[in-house]
Amino acid sequence: MTIEFDGRVAIVTGAGGGLGKTYALELGRRGARVVVNDLGGNPDGTGGAASPADVTVAEIKEAGGEAVANYDSVATPEGGAAITQAALDAFGTVDIVINNAGILRDKSFANLELKDLQAVIDVHLMGAFYVTQPAFRVMKEKGYGRLLFTSSAAGVFGNFGQTNYGAAKMGLVGLSNVLAVEGAKANIRSNVIAPIAKSRLTEDLLGPMADLVDPELVMPLALYLVSEACELTHEIFSVGGGKYSRVFIGETPGWFAGKGTQPTVEDIAAHIDEIRAEDGYTVPGNANDDIRLLLAALG
Ligand code: NAI
Repeated sequence: MTIEFDGRVAIVTGAGGGLGKTYALELGRRGARVVVNDLGGNPDGTGGAASPADVTVAEIKEAGGEAVANYDSVATPEGGAAITQAALDAFGTVDIVINNAGILRDKSFANLELKDLQAVIDVHLMGAFYVTQPAFRVMKEKGYGRLLFTSSAAGVFGNFGQTNYGAAKMGLVGLSNVLAVEGAKANIRSNVIAPIAKSRLTEDLLGPMADLVDPELVMPLALYLVSEACELTHEIFSVGGGKYSRVFIGETPGWFAGKGTQPTVEDIAAHIDEIRAEDGYTVPGNANDDIRLLLAALG
């Protein structure tokens, strides 16, 4: 099976470098018309320049593809709206949004300042709302869409010094999960990746491992998830260095106190191993699945 993107219009945020650039180039090679968004700033979100987005666009065009550059920040409602508008102006529609733009302001929690919390939440979490909402409206109308959000192990699993980043990144899981539910009827699929790749954000953190985790190794899964061939939705994947794994939020069978029974705090302590035991878990596809598990226990 060959995966093509002919006729599809894709927005990739933060596509002036790193992971986003690999997605934009390959989308262009495979026939998508691409909006290459990038503010062109520093890793901490300061500054800005047109050149990174322009370079990606030039490379797509050199390879025979179609692309336009957009330099708006994802971190404002106006910027988000302008990014979808760029797709509509240049190509008449939007089929794919890859929310990838990102910055880092790592600080231990005790030292975290409001400005570093705000900047990171604005780019990663608010930015994903601002960019995706106008595109989602177009997708709903046309009955087709593929959304991809970029989370991180720092949020899904936790990492020292990244409360701001981790909270924003886990927020994206919630956003994607709800969009998977809201978009289902309109053939809109929404998924999440938690990548590991060498980039200017991670080069210093990864040490000797950096050379083993080329961003190109993340690209194939990202592109599959935004392709028409992908019917999956509501999923999370860990991806890096050539390893591709599903991550999921499961619910254990747990312990049922009994219908109409008021357990004590001590009852919880006595059953905590049973509550936590992983055997026989389920993976709810939405909040109703979770309620159904409760109803089943209640008989
Ligand atoms: P990168 O720094 O090379 O790419 C991020 C791009 O986003 C940059 O080109 C930057 O100019 C752009 N950007 C930043 N703020 C923007 C804004 N407000 N509006 C538009 N563009 C903006 O770094 P990398 O590693 O490629 O990061 C891509 C995504 O992957 C980020 O969301 C990052 O948090 C995430 N990620 C990366 C990991 C890794 O191992 N490289 C690990 C986990 C997550």
